[in-house]
Amino acid sequence: MAIILGIESTAHTFGIGIVKNGKILSNVRDMYTTESGGIIPMDSAKHHKSVSEDVYIKSLEEAGVKENEVDAIAFSQGPGLAPCLLEGMKFAKALSKKLKKPIVPVNHCVAHLEITRITGAKEPVLLYTSGANTQVIAYASGKFRVFGETLDIGVGNFIDNFARYIEVGFPGGPKIEQLAKKGKHYVELPYSVKGMDISLSGILTNLKQKFESEKYKIEDLAYSLQEDVFAMLVETAERALAHTGKTELVLGGGVACNSRLQEMCKIMCKERGAKFFCPEKSLLVDNGAMIAFLGGIMFKKGLKISHSSLDKTDIKPRQRTDDIEVSWRK
Ligand code: ATP
Ligand code: FE2
Repeated sequence: MAIILGIESTAHTFGIGIVKNGKILSNVRDMYTTESGGIIPMDSAKHHKSVSEDVYIKSLEEAGVKENEVDAIAFSQGPGLAPCLLEGMKFAKALSKKLKKPIVPVNHCVAHLEITRITGAKEPVLLYTSGANTQVIAYASGKFRVFGETLDIGVGNFIDNFARYIEVGFPGGPKIEQLAKKGKHYVELPYSVKGMDISLSGILTNLKQKFESEKYKIEDLAYSLQEDVFAMLVETAERALAHTGKTELVLGGGVACNSRLQEMCKIMCKERGAKFFCPEKSLLVDNGAMIAFLGGIMFKKGLKISHSSLDKTDIKPRQRTDDIEVSWRK
């Protein structure tokens, strides 16, 4: 009966979740936000440091767990912003020394993917849409294989960038979603799917130009952004389902919170007789529970580092999803 504490700190969110045998007992988060402008890595790291103790105490309380009952401390090792990752690792190592319990370094993107198991999907195609990442993935022979991805920026960062440009603050996703609900007229944007890949920078430039021209309502631009870009995501996901012959689609990552994206995926799945799955919102955005969840699976397979040999472990700001040996699934 292992109790794993998971720490998330890769970018804007500091979160601690506690998981006992695959069951989530707590998931507490504190997010760095701005009214206008984007994320400043050093400021976000300072935010993480200032809230960490509070988030830790709340998470233990919510879980009804005492700190000496924790069996291992999982943390996001990468990818992410170095100053932010460092705060999470420092917290994890200090706790490991204090409790004399091992650490489990976890890849953040793989945690976004593995937490989708909670939906009950067995062998899905994964549409992973987060801030920095946009990939269509399926697990095969020990790795998550990337079938298609963005050739330039991640869909979340793309939305955040446009939101910053029109000065609605960070994170932009929820703000654009609200604006889009009030949009009525579709404005044509340069749809850009290349084989299994997509590209977003051209659409971003086009949207900014349209915004500057003052000929369009921002509600209509937000609406068209969602219709155009989500259709691109759904098209590549559908092609991956067709190529692999798989019959399940799981949507993951922070942008998956968007109800229009969920709806479009649902419609596509229904049309081709596939099943659609999506975890609840608190598990889609960056959170500690997904780190603890994957940490628990890895811990069970012996993938842990003793509190007496922490020095060799460092952050990995540029680690890629398909570099990870998913040895726990073999
Ligand atoms: P990565 O996981 O690739 O390292 P990240 O950790 O920044 O990136 P997540 O926390 O998974 O990404 O997701 C954050 C992104 O999700 C932000 O870009 C945010 O704008 C977007 N997002 C959140 N809610 C919504 C929504 N309702 N609609 C669209 N996007 C959303
Ligand atoms: Fe993330």
